[in-house]
Amino acid sequence: MPKNSERSVASTQDLGPSAQDPAPRTRHPEPSSQELAPRTLFVTGGAGFIGSNFIRHVLSAHDGVRAVNYDKLTYAGNLENLTDIKESERYRFVRGDISDAKAVAQVFAEEKPWGVVNFAAESHVDRSILDATPFVDTNVKGTQVLLEAIRQQPVERFVQISTDEVYGALGKDGLFSESSPIQPNSPYAACKAAADLIALAYAKTYGLPIVVTRSSNNYGPYQFPEKLIPLTVRNALAGKELPIYGEGKQVRDWLYVEDNCRAIDAVLHKGRIGEVYNIGGDCEKQNIDLVKLICEILRNHPETQELRPRIQFIKDPRGAAHDFRYALDCRKIREELGWGPRMSFETGLASTVEWYRANRPWTERVITGEYRDYYRKIYGACAP
Ligand SMILES: NC(=O)c1ccc[n+]([C@@H]2O[C@H](COP(=O)([O-])OP(=O)(O)OC[C@H]3O[C@@H](n4cnc5c(N)ncnc54)[C@H](O)[C@@H]3O)[C@@H](O)[C@H]2O)c1
Repeated sequence: MPKNSERSVASTQDLGPSAQDPAPRTRHPEPSSQELAPRTLFVTGGAGFIGSNFIRHVLSAHDGVRAVNYDKLTYAGNLENLTDIKESERYRFVRGDISDAKAVAQVFAEEKPWGVVNFAAESHVDRSILDATPFVDTNVKGTQVLLEAIRQQPVERFVQISTDEVYGALGKDGLFSESSPIQPNSPYAACKAAADLIALAYAKTYGLPIVVTRSSNNYGPYQFPEKLIPLTVRNALAGKELPIYGEGKQVRDWLYVEDNCRAIDAVLHKGRIGEVYNIGGDCEKQNIDLVKLICEILRNHPETQELRPRIQFIKDPRGAAHDFRYALDCRKIREELGWGPRMSFETGLASTVEWYRANRPWTERVITGEYRDYYRKIYGACAP
């Protein structure tokens, strides 16, 4: 059960998810504190990168929200990401697998959640190329288990967190809109696409209150260091070469994680049921340019100005599954929900690089698996 403590997350006056968003063309009334109180959100994958940022966001944005973090604690799940809120009376952690229907049903019965936000996933494209099985198990089967759970015990909202990768690759021009065809290329993207389509089919077939978000590449604190930005910072600080797949010409759109959390919050409370919302940062960069920018930021820091990291081009393990470009048309969420990114890329990248520089011990504990040793002590033979 939740632990009570004097330490609790900062809570603010509840102005709703988009109180300070740029003026939208169509504005929907903001949910009031009273409307929001007290709601339990069943957040899956909350010990991962975006999920942990989202739990922190939602508890600080809404006084009346409780978050139950349901996470299997795979290699990517790290409870240290939530140390600052773990004693909050509005937070509970439950270790569990979303593919385990019995365990999910038990927590549903205990918590009677108002809503579900499904972040839990195997999320790394390269790992899906090595072995797609856990991707099918979690991303596809696990999502279906959650959808069955809300058929048995209705909720007010279910948000399926998806990705721009379901659309496949773009050429040099154009943007994906929510009605673009789904043409995933990697096993990861295919499993996410399958989950989206099952979720949307459940919304239509059973009239369930499901909404899907598809976001571009997130960046910010607490990202597992196998992903490009934390990996580059770590290697640069350690004096190692910076690996780049192929020639590094692939283009990604970058979205600051807190901006994504605000968007998900807006979709959760105000999104139209059965709809998909693209969430992008309107900030396209080639991988090679991003890596060079990170090096420049580090060289401008007094403690790391001596660093001269070298880029190493390596054979692309993704082959034809390495999509050339993703970019999103985000007019729908801007016009309907009044959301827009607030963080500029320059500021967001500088603060993210600084976070990984200053929190090097966090990265090292993740890399060495020290946090998993800790889980083994706590969970014994059941440790992931
Ligand atoms: N990171 C991005 O740039 C990005 C972009 C678009 C969409 N997404 C999507 O957002 C979601 C979160 O991504 P992330 O980068 O935070 O991922 P992550 O890998 O950092 O975290 C995933 C979390 O899910 C948990 N998990 C995995 N399998 C589970 C299972 N079977 N049951 C319960 N928990 C399980 C892990 O322990 C971990 O805490 C994913 O659905 C991903 O597809 C991510």
